[in-house]
Amino acid sequence: MLEQDIPREQVIRLGPEKIYECLELDQLALNGLWSKQQWHQELFDSRRLCMGVLRSSKLLALACGWLVVDELHVTAIAVHPQHRRQGHARLVLSKLLDEARRAGAAHATLEVASTNSAARELYKSCGFKTAGCRHHYYSDGQDALIQWRSLKDQSEQRKTI
Ligand SMILES: CC(C)(COP(=O)(O)OP(=O)(O)OC[C@H]1O[C@@H](n2cnc3c(N)ncnc32)[C@H](O)[C@@H]1OP(=O)(O)O)[C@@H](O)C(=O)NCCC(=O)NCCS
Repeated sequence: MLEQDIPREQVIRLGPEKIYECLELDQLALNGLWSKQQWHQELFDSRRLCMGVLRSSKLLALACGWLVVDELHVTAIAVHPQHRRQGHARLVLSKLLDEARRAGAAHATLEVASTNSAARELYKSCGFKTAGCRHHYYSDGQDALIQWRSLKDQSEQRKTI
């Protein structure tokens, strides 16, 4: 196989035409977080951002968030179980943060289960810090750790110190 024939990943903004790929990945990685109707809303509403990593036409990873005033609320991040630990989550999350920054967001926030060590490590490696805890937030009684980060770039952050 020639090098130019090797399928490469591309990161795109996901729209309603990718609803079945999102539903499938949601089932595989998030145990069915959202219904078809909810996914339609996620992919259609212009204040909701969904980014995806595609290889050929296969959806390997997705990251979604809602723009609320100047904040991005990250609502879902998922990577296909057979394609983990290859940097897809970090890539798709960084593209989501870039899109949000371009749309005027100054901060990003999300909640993660205290026992989800893979996700906690991911967010830490992407510059998020724990800003609080919602005790027994999830239906199984687990705590949610509130994660937060600024979306100002490093040079802008230095200027404000
Ligand atoms: C959490 C999840 C999105 C990570 O996806 P991924 O593509 O494997 O993550 P990446 O390869 O981009 O890893 C980025 C960093 O996250 C951390 N990380 C990811 N998976 C990890 C694991 N299993 N254990 C420890 N750290 C992990 C590491 O710091 C990693 O950097 P490194 O590989 O250089 O050490 C994936 O495991 C997943 O889809 N889980 C189920 C859904 C979920 O929990 N979503 C988050 C809900 S809040």
